[in-house]
Amino acid sequence: MKVRDDLDQLEGYHSPQVDVAVRLNTNESPYPPPAAWQDAFAEEVKRIQFQRYPDREATALRAAIGDQHGVGPECVLAANGSNEVIQAVCLAFGGAGRSAAVFKPTYLMHSHIARITGTTVVEGERGPDFSLDLDEVERVVSAHAPAITFLCSPNNPTGRLEPPEAVDRLLALTPGLVVVDEAYGQFAPRSAIEQIADDRPLVVVRTFSKTWSMAAARLGYLVGPAEIVRALEGVLLPYHLDTVKQAAGRLALRYKTEMEERVASIVEERGRLVAGLSDLAVDVWPSAANFILFRPQAGDGDAVWQGLLDRSVLVRNCASWPRLEGCLRVTVGTPEENEAFLAALAEVLG
Ligand SMILES: Cc1ncc(COP(=O)(O)O)c(C=O)c1O
Repeated sequence: MKVRDDLDQLEGYHSPQVDVAVRLNTNESPYPPPAAWQDAFAEEVKRIQFQRYPDREATALRAAIGDQHGVGPECVLAANGSNEVIQAVCLAFGGAGRSAAVFKPTYLMHSHIARITGTTVVEGERGPDFSLDLDEVERVVSAHAPAITFLCSPNNPTGRLEPPEAVDRLLALTPGLVVVDEAYGQFAPRSAIEQIADDRPLVVVRTFSKTWSMAAARLGYLVGPAEIVRALEGVLLPYHLDTVKQAAGRLALRYKTEMEERVASIVEERGRLVAGLSDLAVDVWPSAANFILFRPQAGDGDAVWQGLLDRSVLVRNCASWPRLEGCLRVTVGTPEENEAFLAALAEVLG
């Protein structure tokens, strides 16, 4: 038995899962959800009728998410993590004979998922400081007329936030769907959600994995025009969101104030971490997310990554990624984790 030729050539996108004291490699929240959520969730789980299929439309969850953004449930698509949302987008709007545009360096899963769904990937380059180069966007979009264009804002792994004008310009240029991935949206001062309108092919993707402290639950969603959401529903498997997850997400939204407090403290820690990194021999990129990209000025990134791991600190190794030679990405953790990371890094850099 031979797997599809095009799949054979694809590499996975996986960060190592190793047991360490300080885990700052996958941009999770360092804090668990509130204790009150844990209690409410446990109570709700006791009431679940496990012999029944879940609510296929996930209506209550979608209504609760929509309330957060001032839209109805018909403008919300929920799925098993935002990666599954992205997969639904590629299945519905991409596929054979269609292309998806990405601007690198960016979140690798956009092109990975596109390829898995048989969508051709067309690539543009970001500018030297990793900002979006609108001339390059115009070149790629006019050459390929992509059915989907991905923008990640704040961009993973560089941390950069796109200005609203970039989204407007892209919408004016492209005949296809514009997908703004805001997995880190709550850490940034503005969102493209405000730019959504019924007559614009714009959708914004969000996740419960980061700010909502619920990476274990695998829940993500998209906000967009109802017509686009309807089209996306057509490619989801029946009952794709289990009842436990629907309850977890719906209840989490009741603790928005606590979520905002966590975000505020992570943003404050991000500032401290940037300041701490600036005292060391590393180049640091500004970040609007809960992670920071940096590059040791001497020595190779792989050796620094290994040196940190030897001290039980795990960060993301981007050293071999195109245009990110020697770079590492650290997630903002608790104050203690950040201290431990800075101390280990100072030691590794000597
Ligand atoms: C930009 C971006 N989009 C999507 C995801 C996937 O998140 P989820 O856990 O919701 O699938 C991530 C996870 O790291 C991410 O960085």
